[in-house]
Amino acid sequence: MKNILIATQNEGKMVEFNAAFNPLGYNCISLNDVGFDSEVIEDGKTFFENAYKKAKEIGELYQMVTLADDSGLIVEALPYELGVKSKRFSKSGTHKDNNILLLAKLKHTYNRTAYFVSQLVLYYPGGKFYTYQGRVYGEIAYDLKGDFGFGYDPLFIVDGLNKRMAELTEQEKNRISHRGNALKKLIRDIKNEVIII
Ligand code: IMP
Repeated sequence: MKNILIATQNEGKMVEFNAAFNPLGYNCISLNDVGFDSEVIEDGKTFFENAYKKAKEIGELYQMVTLADDSGLIVEALPYELGVKSKRFSKSGTHKDNNILLLAKLKHTYNRTAYFVSQLVLYYPGGKFYTYQGRVYGEIAYDLKGDFGFGYDPLFIVDGLNKRMAELTEQEKNRISHRGNALKKLIRDIKNEVIII
């Protein structure tokens, strides 16, 4: 099996990536596996800039084909907040405080349209890279609901499903999520041999 280094310390994401890549004959290795315990500062203005920076720094350091992702929530009524800053929206940056702040900011707002974005960058040592974006559209609810997922999932009503993201099982979420959609595009290109790792 060939190896792909995934630029994450999040073991939840690793389960998702291994489920997608193992059937194609690729083994996913995490930053924990290679002993990387530092941090790549995400100071980019776009999801692409952050994902590219992470993939490049890690890929060059370990001389391995490296996949990085950056994601976040875009809320139409709050165009200059969230986005690449989704993780640090509230002062504490906890999921709970982020959700409370979002509800407060949208209290008198009728336009609740929102979407999640996931940007993937697959980087090869030397400079070649491929990038993919996935999205999922929905609306921000007026209260929290659901026990699954993380982050803004309890507030996000998925278009067409009329359910919160946090009401979907992990498998259901992967099928429709921004990360799932970006990953599907990458996997399709690997299967069609547009991309060779
Ligand atoms: P990162 O890509 O891991 O840096 O994620 C950035 C932030 O975006 C997270 O901390 C969450 O607040 C938000 N986010 C990204 N993906 C999701 C998701 O699938 N559900 C809920 N929140 C998400």
